Order: sequence, then structure tokens, then C-alpha cells
Amino acid sequence: MDIQTIRQNTPGVTHVVHFNSAGASLVSQQVLDAQIDYLKNEARFGGYETAAKHKAQLEEFYLEAAKLINASPEEIAFTESATVAWQRAFFSIPFKKGDTILTTKAEYASNFISYLYLKKDKGINIKVIPSNSVGEIDLQKLEESIDESVKLISVTHIPTNGGLVNPAEKIGKLAKKHNILYLLDACQSIGQYPIDVNKIGCHFLSATGRKYLRGPRGTGFLYVNKNVLTSLNPFNLDLHSANWVKPDAYEARTDAKIFETWESGLAAKIGLTQALKEANSFGMDNIWQRVVQLSQYLRSELEKIEDVKVTDIGAVQSGIVTFTTSVKASQLKEALNAKGFNTVVSHKSSTLLDMEDRNLEEVVRASVHYYNTEQEVDDLTAALRQIF
Ligand SMILES: Cc1ncc(COP(=O)(O)O)c(C=O)c1O
Repeated sequence: MDIQTIRQNTPGVTHVVHFNSAGASLVSQQVLDAQIDYLKNEARFGGYETAAKHKAQLEEFYLEAAKLINASPEEIAFTESATVAWQRAFFSIPFKKGDTILTTKAEYASNFISYLYLKKDKGINIKVIPSNSVGEIDLQKLEESIDESVKLISVTHIPTNGGLVNPAEKIGKLAKKHNILYLLDACQSIGQYPIDVNKIGCHFLSATGRKYLRGPRGTGFLYVNKNVLTSLNPFNLDLHSANWVKPDAYEARTDAKIFETWESGLAAKIGLTQALKEANSFGMDNIWQRVVQLSQYLRSELEKIEDVKVTDIGAVQSGIVTFTTSVKASQLKEALNAKGFNTVVSHKSSTLLDMEDRNLEEVVRASVHYYNTEQEVDDLTAALRQIF
């Protein structure tokens, strides 16, 4: 990858040292321009008229998202966030009392809150599979937990609070073997890790635009495998996802757009399409290789600082680097921010089970993307040394 050209096309890198791609990445000039141009057209010619004129360009979103994850365009729905994508999929599954959901220790708060809601509302069971010695979901325990009550395996691929990469493909093999629905939260992995839904074997995958994909805020998408589409019960039907054909009848769509609603931010969709094109043209294997190399470099440099403890787990580690020090995480984040470095604090409540298990209250998260440089890593660790 030509990092110098990529940086020339990323206006943010001249203003900040951005180690927060797991929060929201810096967008490229082209992603910015695509949105501004579209907004200008809306202002000049009208929103509906601009959408009609850009019909083909707006459809490109589905082609690019499908290409990125090796799906077909009919299996993609555009949403305003990963949470909306995840919830539309999750709440479309016809759960009944006594059904069981198998999940992981590193589960994201919003997902777990939905499990708890369904437990209260419908009497489903939640079973959290323990982690193995390196911190991944324990596959043997996962298989041992499968019985006839298990309706769904629901897993966060890469959690919000560290480098862990859960073995999505191996989980998929078990889901297939036992014929169980499989929902993968790929919010933190999309755009950094090469995802092939056919290899993974998930039935649903939720993704966000603003993080490693480098798209605009307020965007996301959902993948739904075409073989399960007609067995679901989406709650969000409107005149886009269904057609009102008789006073007492409607016909629902049969593709993944059944999970969309009519109105959406089309300038943002155009921006996300451009971001997807960039990810597809760089190639996910190249992106992953660069992200792993830089994040391992950051981890090894952090480990050289006496007061720093790297808290990442997992056999395979992503671009999300986390650590604790003797300084409170929120204070350290502010001190780094004052020196021009963007990081964030990941709090216990975002991944409660994992943080409790590891006795962590909060960690500083410095997430690395391909547009970061070795020099920026050195500058960050030098700044940390100055703070201590
Ligand atoms: C693992 C995980 N899942 C889901 C989400 C929610 O994504 P969004 O804010 O796009 O809804 C996040 C956000 O940080 C996350 O880390």
C-alpha cells in the first residue's frame, strides 16, 4: 500500500495523530467530496430529484458492500448504524420461551442488553460460553453447550475493548454442523479484517461505516443470508420493505432490503460507497497485514515503558491496542489529547463480562489503521514517556 499517497488523501492526518479508528476513522478526501457534492446537488435540485438522478450510483453501495464480504447484493441492507443492523436481524428471529442464545465473554453491551430484554419479554435463556486460555471463545465448550433449545449463536467478532479476534470461521463450522442460526457482530472487524461470509458461514452480519471502513458517521449495513430471509419476522416493515396491496394485506420484499426503511441519509450512503470502493481496491488482505504489523509494533513499544501494561488478549490480535497505567485512563487520554493524539477510554460497562473477569475498570484504547505510521507510534510512546 502506498501509505504516503493515502495520507495525502486523508486531510485529518495533518491536524491530529489519530489512534481512534475503532471509534471513527479519518475519512479520505474522496469520501468527503462525494458527500459534499451530493449535498450540494440536493440543495440545488431537490432531494428526490437528486436521488432519481443518482439511482445507479446509489445502487453501487450494494455491489461494493457485497464484494467486500463475498455476498450477493440482494443480501445487503443499508442502515444508519451497526446497532440498527444488528437489532433488525436479532429481533426478526422468531424466538419462543425456552430458546437459548449462546454468546461470548467479550460481548458488546448493546447486544447483551437485547438478550436481557428478550429474556424478560419472552423467557429465553442466555448462556455465556467461557473463554479459553488465550481469551477466545472456547470452541469445545461452545459445542458442549449445544442442545435442542439453542436457537442462535451470537458472537462479537472483534470486541470494543481490545485486540481479541474471535474465531468466527470455526464458530461457523459448529453452527453449520448443528444447524443453528449464527449472528456475527462485525462492527469492529469490518474494514480491518478480511471477511468472507461464505467462509464464515454466518446467517447475519452487522457492520458500521465510520470505524475501520473509513465511511461517514450514521452509516452501517446488514448482511442476511438469502436462505434464511423468508423464515424471519422483521418488525420494521414500511412501504419500502413491503407493498400494501389490498386493504387487509401487504407483500413483503424477499431480499435483504426488507430490513431497510424508506428514508435514509443518501449523501452518507454515497460517502460509504466511496469508502467501500477504497477498501475493495486496497484489498482486505493488504489492509489487515498493515494493521497487524503496525499494531504489533505499538504493543511492543508500549511494553518497553515501565508504567504501561498492555491488556490485549487473543491468539490473533487486531488493530485495537489497549493498555492501563498508574494514571487514570480518562486523565491519560486527556493528557494525550492535549499533545495532539486521539485515543479513547473503553469502560467496564461496554464489555462488562470480560472486564469483570479480568478485573479491569477502564483501559486506554489506541486503535491503529493503515494510514498511521511507525513515526506516529514512536511519537505516541515518546509522549507517554513524557507524561510519566
Ligand atoms: C462490538 C461492537 N458492536 C456494535 C457497536 C455499535 O456500533 P454502532 O455505534 O455503529 O451502532 C460497537 C460500537 O462501538 C461495537 O464496538
